[in-house]
Amino acid sequence: MLLDTYGRVATDLRVSLTDRCNLRCTYCMPEEGLQWLARPDLLTDDEIVRLVGIAVTRLGVREVRFTGGEPLLRPGVVGIVERCAALDPRPELSLTTNGIGLERTAGALREAGLDRINVSLDTLDPEVFERMTRRRRHADVLRGLEAAREAGLAPVKVNAVLMPGLNDTEAPGLLSWAIEHGYELRFIEQMPLDAQRGWRREDMVTAQDVLASLRTRFTLTPEGGESRGSAPAERWIVDGGPHRVGVIASVTRPFCRACDRTRLTADGQVRTCLFAREESDLRGALRSGADDAEIAGLWKAAMWGKEAGSGLEGPAFRQPDRPMSAIGG
Ligand code: GTP
Ligand code: 5AD
Ligand code: SF4
Repeated sequence: MLLDTYGRVATDLRVSLTDRCNLRCTYCMPEEGLQWLARPDLLTDDEIVRLVGIAVTRLGVREVRFTGGEPLLRPGVVGIVERCAALDPRPELSLTTNGIGLERTAGALREAGLDRINVSLDTLDPEVFERMTRRRRHADVLRGLEAAREAGLAPVKVNAVLMPGLNDTEAPGLLSWAIEHGYELRFIEQMPLDAQRGWRREDMVTAQDVLASLRTRFTLTPEGGESRGSAPAERWIVDGGPHRVGVIASVTRPFCRACDRTRLTADGQVRTCLFAREESDLRGALRSGADDAEIAGLWKAAMWGKEAGSGLEGPAFRQPDRPMSAIGG
């Protein structure tokens, strides 16, 4: 079990398959991209499957999400999913993608055993998309989304980050569109994890702003019922149901107290949190011949050191060294 000193148990593993990306979202990375990890530093497909296996069979991990950078850029992604789906006990498998190339791979991912998918899309306007991502790929994402739904990946969730002056008036339009197409929409507060370190709290579109904007066109009732648990999204029922909309208020309403996550970077480091200041190296242990029990021990020791929260609320907050794209969102 991956327990920490605050009594939380990590059962949800997020694995970054690559730090590379084919978009350049302004809230994530600069135009020229970043200094990507060197090939020999990346875990191999075999190493990833072995570590996921250790997490699932020895450490109580039940859900595995593949992230990036952009995880579909990893040539072996379908094979990795397939081998993880063959583990016993079988974990729930999901993936978070920007949707580029999903049109081609959605069917194969589903067949390999992927259960669910989350796709990032911040705008319905191709011009705004280009300004936000610095690439003309809006149509590819829309086709990827349709392919995911047709492949039977359900639910298909759409993640949107709102930026002032760019897409902050689009919340109601995005929700109408998502309802029409059968996607579950969530709005995400922008976090200080960009490589350029340009995040300013004053510029952030908050959960409150999003809800106020949605309420100009929809009636929202809190979903309530059983508590939000470890889910990052708080959900609202739209116009009496059955549709829902989520808001991930990582900055203004953090869910750290219920966090059940552990993370593995593409170069084999365990991170206890998006905002962790330290990492624990599993790649070195793997490559120097450690057995599964030893690796499980290192992973447990790493999680024991998990901090109470992100530290975002304090004045002493310092952004972690790795940007979001190299952590795996
Ligand atoms: P499901 O709700 O299980 O579908 O997944 P998810 O929402 O956790 O996954 P996704 O990869 O779509 O993440 C959406 C957003 O949640 C990310 O962009 C982050 O903003 C936020 N998020 C994910 N993990 C964490 C975390 O550990 N801490 C915080 N503060 N935010 C997180
Ligand atoms: N803050 C919040 N969300 C972000 N994402 C990328 N960078 C940030 C950030 N700084 C989002 C992407 C994607 C998800 C994995 O994380 O848009 O939907
Ligand atoms: Fe790529 Fe995601 Fe960063 Fe956009 S937010 S540049 S899609 S890693």
